[in-house]
Amino acid sequence: MTDDKAAYIEQLKNHVGQEVTLKGWLYNSRAGGKVLFLIIRDGTGLCQCVVEKGKICDELFEQLGHLGQESSLGVCGLVRADERSVGGYELAVTDANIIAPAADYPITPKSHGIDFLLRHRHLHLRSQGQWCIGKIRHTVIDAVRRFFNDSGFTLVDTPILTATAGEEEQTLFQVDYFGSPLHLTQTGQLHLEAAAMSFGKVYCFGPTFRAERSKTRRHLTEFWMVEPEVAFIDLDGLLELAESFVSSVVERVMRDNRSQLESVGADIASLAKIKPPFYRLTYTQAVDILTSQKTRDFLARELEELKSRKAQLEGKIAQLEEEQKGQIKQWKRDKNAAELIELRTDLAETDTRVENNPKHAQLAAEFRWGKDLGGSDETILSQMHDKPVFVTHYPKLAKAFYMKADRNNEDVVLNFDLLAPAGFGEIIGGSVREDDYGRLVARIKEQGLNIDNYGWYLDLRKYGSVPHGGFGLGIERTIAWLTAQKHIRQCIPFPRMMDKVYI
Ligand code: 4AD
Ligand code: MG
Repeated sequence: MTDDKAAYIEQLKNHVGQEVTLKGWLYNSRAGGKVLFLIIRDGTGLCQCVVEKGKICDELFEQLGHLGQESSLGVCGLVRADERSVGGYELAVTDANIIAPAADYPITPKSHGIDFLLRHRHLHLRSQGQWCIGKIRHTVIDAVRRFFNDSGFTLVDTPILTATAGEEEQTLFQVDYFGSPLHLTQTGQLHLEAAAMSFGKVYCFGPTFRAERSKTRRHLTEFWMVEPEVAFIDLDGLLELAESFVSSVVERVMRDNRSQLESVGADIASLAKIKPPFYRLTYTQAVDILTSQKTRDFLARELEELKSRKAQLEGKIAQLEEEQKGQIKQWKRDKNAAELIELRTDLAETDTRVENNPKHAQLAAEFRWGKDLGGSDETILSQMHDKPVFVTHYPKLAKAFYMKADRNNEDVVLNFDLLAPAGFGEIIGGSVREDDYGRLVARIKEQGLNIDNYGWYLDLRKYGSVPHGGFGLGIERTIAWLTAQKHIRQCIPFPRMMDKVYI
């Protein structure tokens, strides 16, 4: 086999009628008498390779027929367009070479539990689901950079080792820095504010760390955040920036990753609607919604739907379990077993939601002005909207020290959270920053932070202080929303969670 015909699967459309060589891994295979159907993946896509007995030597035909999943190989053949084939093209194989055979690959095309898959993440990355999400993540990150680079922002890399706390002190990871304590950064914001006073419009993009004791579907201890910061901007300006930024990222992913979005079950029709303007609510309006009859009715309807879904799942599981007890073909037994794993996972999740619904309904009904919105409150507000919704003007006492008090109502701050629709909740947090020296000192002291660590930050208010603000968008939460993943651990290649770091 020669390499001068080397091609990637994603380029096959340009090679119809030509001989090419593909190099990759055996994703799946099936034998149909005198024909083998090998599905090969090469990092750019999947291709069905058809091997007919007699067209290659018998020994090779035999070896290919017994080749294990994820063996690496090269195949040479003629490219044919075939709509029924995965990817739309297939290869009529004329030659092949096995590079490294693999036996007993632990992840089969059948279903596995999530814990097993996380323990095998190093291999699970090769699955179609993880591949699609990885491709989407790549586009999201590229679109993020492009948006800011094309809008006059300067990239400023902020440090990962810091002495200052940007968010709640309880969530700091401490490191021993040559005998003195330092922290892993929770946000690049404070350093970015310094950079904004030099460049005007800046952004940072990197990993951030939170020792958050929450094992929820929305929390990682290491996640990626992009943070823009702008001098001379007000709250309205920030909202406009955020909605055009998020819309541009969605548009790019819809353009470049349509097939991957479809493959992971994304809600394409809803994503097509993501265009400015987004909905805008004040925190006070959000509290009115949470405590309203409309929300009580909404949650009661949801509970009925969940209960009927639970009954359906239980019925289907009972039916399959009954089938498994009888005499059935092995392929059917395997198929049922895989389906049962999925149905039981779905049932466990539905069960949790049935249990949580009344608790969340109570939390919402009893919500009192002054508290920060909790995860379940955000979910409810987000479920009630078909486009992202900004919630602005939170109570000052519930929020970080750096947020600027609204001069028209000192009880609230000029901040916002952006909630993604369909129950995905907060993807952005941002604010106008307190730019008055005296007020900022008072806030730092009120929150019990060590003022000595904030000398440099306070300098920014001494030497040419200006109104400014910014926000942070969590990459994994954004991808979870775009790809309709229930848990954000699916949206980063090697997730770090409070209860476990697998690999
Ligand atoms: O709302 P947060 O805490 O805001 C800040 O850190 C600001 N300093 C940003 C700024 O104004 N420059 O976090 C911003 C976003 C959240 O909306 C969420 O998307 C994500 O970061 N995020 C997390 N993602 C995954 N796991 C966690 N534990 C997260 N905590 C925050
Ligand atoms: Mg937040």
